[in-house]
Amino acid sequence: MEPLNVGFALTGSFCTFRRALSVMRGLKEKGYNVIPIMSFHAATLDTRFGKAADFIGEIEEITGNKVIATLPEAEPIGPKKLLDILVIEPCTGNTLAKLALGIADTPVTMAAKSHLRNLRPVLIAISSNDALAGAAKNIAMLQNYKNVFFVPYTQDDPAQKPNSIVADFERTEDAILSALEGKQLQPMLLK
Ligand SMILES: Cc1cc2nc3c(=O)[nH]c(=O)nc-3n(C[C@H](O)[C@H](O)[C@H](O)COP(=O)(O)O)c2cc1C
Repeated sequence: MEPLNVGFALTGSFCTFRRALSVMRGLKEKGYNVIPIMSFHAATLDTRFGKAADFIGEIEEITGNKVIATLPEAEPIGPKKLLDILVIEPCTGNTLAKLALGIADTPVTMAAKSHLRNLRPVLIAISSNDALAGAAKNIAMLQNYKNVFFVPYTQDDPAQKPNSIVADFERTEDAILSALEGKQLQPMLLK
């Protein structure tokens, strides 16, 4: 059987990159073809969590595929039907806002727009400190969209970061399999 083609898009929640890479590795080991995509910021910013070039090297080593990091590289995803599902993990508040409003000016939002034209699923793993504040309306909008699903999420530190939400990355594969059946993995809101 042909392996499933999973687009795996990272946006600039740098503190969760290690977790995302571990999910990518797990998917690859289970036989998925993992096609990495990075936002401009994810692909270029060096932060206290690591250097962009090192992450790109590691991601390409894990997946065996070149990172899609420009709009022209992301554009064929729809026309060529390159993906069965697009996972955006981690998804920033910034990218959530763009997705909610149909803005496609980064490799990740361009990939989503291109892929959604085929009525195939997009799976979002939120990681944002303002998810219960400024980004809340965007999450609510996206939860009403066709073909958009969420990796179950929870408040990660209610005392110190009362508006922060992070997806449970360990549920990514289950959420992928549900989304491919057109279903949201439940419970979506974790305790
Ligand atoms: C070190 C660092 C960590 C960040 N962590 C997060 C985060 O966890 N969640 C988030 O929504 N934004 C975070 N940001 C802000 C985003 O990187 C910023 O909004 C950026 O414009 C996102 O662009 P993108 O969505 O195209 O990747 C962080 C920024 C830096 C420099």
